[in-house]
Amino acid sequence: YPIFAQQVYENPREATGRIVCANCHLANKPVDIEVPRAVLPDTVFEAVVRIPYDTKLKQILSNGKRGALNIGAILILPEGFELAPPDRISPEMKERILNLSFQSYRPTKKNIIVMGPVTGLKYSEISFPIISPDPSTNKDVHFLKYPIYVGGNRGRGQIYPDGSKSNNTIYNATAAGIVSRIIRKEKGGYEITIVDTSDGRQVVDIIPPGPELLVSEGESIRLDQPLTSNPNVGGFGQGDAEIVLQDTLRVQGLLLFLASVILAQIFLVLKKKQFEKVQLSEMNL
Ligand code: HEM
Repeated sequence: YPIFAQQVYENPREATGRIVCANCHLANKPVDIEVPRAVLPDTVFEAVVRIPYDTKLKQILSNGKRGALNIGAILILPEGFELAPPDRISPEMKERILNLSFQSYRPTKKNIIVMGPVTGLKYSEISFPIISPDPSTNKDVHFLKYPIYVGGNRGRGQIYPDGSKSNNTIYNATAAGIVSRIIRKEKGGYEITIVDTSDGRQVVDIIPPGPELLVSEGESIRLDQPLTSNPNVGGFGQGDAEIVLQDTLRVQGLLLFLASVILAQIFLVLKKKQFEKVQLSEMNL
């Protein structure tokens, strides 16, 4: 959950560029982001994030039963950009946002926004309402091109913040030897006893309800050999986009320059026509 990242990591984007959700959501799946190429200062716009997956898929829930997947996302904006205040969001945009609740990552980090988990059945596309900063009032921002980073996840994670495994992951043998006993527990899950053949030491691996067992009693196994299948059908993906904070004066200046170029061209043609007339009259003499 985004809240796990908020609790554990001060900065959700590591120095390597990796977004921290990937530390617990181990599978890699795609995510897509769409933003305007350029925005003017103090303007509300949308960043659209898509987290595609097959909505017919079922995953293992924490009680071992099967259920639908949920989605969540994190958006890392340039300094100064933040969630648009509700009174600045147009009614059409409000319709697209569909009552989603967005949150800043930290009260001090308003440029990082998280959302979710929500059902992915209804929200295949998430529209983040964002407002651009104004360099005339905020001296820390400039008219520049900035990167935007996004992380999107569907499905449950594999590791809890305390480091323990969830039941939505693969379980491996913690010792080499022979599987001497497999106990199927009442509430689901297994207790697998492995006997090390060299010294007779016994190790018990506990498997929670969910993953499917791959080994049977009497089988000889290696250290780290998978005892179960990997039930995870979800995954996390990250991507980026670029946005230009555009100065109105620059656009006006460019238009003015282009107009002057066109005018100069027209005058050159007119001058040429005039010169041709003079040439003609000189030839007649
Ligand atoms: C569950 C998103 C970070 C561990 C989920 C779910 C979503 C999600 C949407 C619900 C999935 C479902 O019900 O189908 C995210 C995002 C993150 C993030 C966007 C980053 C901003 C983390 C981190 C950890 C983590 C850092 C580990 C420390 C888990 C676990 C679950 C889960 C263990 C399953 C919980 C349960 O059902 O018992 N996450 N997550 N997540 N997440 Fe994350």
